[in-house]
Amino acid sequence: MKLQTILSAAALAALASTGALAQGGDPAKGQALFATCAACHGANAEGMEALNAPKLSGQEDWYIIRQLQNFKSGVRGTNPRDTYGMQMAPMAQILPDDQAMADVAAYIKTLPQQ
Ligand code: HEC
Repeated sequence: MKLQTILSAAALAALASTGALAQGGDPAKGQALFATCAACHGANAEGMEALNAPKLSGQEDWYIIRQLQNFKSGVRGTNPRDTYGMQMAPMAQILPDDQAMADVAAYIKTLPQQ
């Protein structure tokens, strides 16, 4: 397989998993959802090292959505050795669906970089 074919297959797979929702995220709805996240990630998603919660502001919305999907499906944060991932995994469960993930990612995108 040519590299280009592999790359476009990967891009299609990524599109299939996030759909067009990344563009359709509603920051106003995401703001309400983010209230919980702010407890660990900070009000401006600036991150909180004491809680091992990384900065999210400035991060790509599609990457945030993908990580939330990974946490929710158990791809990430289920190995007992993944201490910090296991703290985050239950948080992804409060986001009911892909739309909620897109909404919260859209809100994070509006936050200032610090
Ligand atoms: C109890 C504290 C806590 C809360 C609340 C919390 N998180 Fe997290 N989050 C973490 C920790 C700790 C990590 C780091 C996990 C790791 O090291 O793998 C993390 C990681 C993440 C990541 C992965 C970042 C990356 O670069 O891979 C995303 C995205 C994320 N959180 C989003 C959210 C969202 C959205 C919410 C609200 C629905 C939220 N978090 C609520 C603690 C929290």
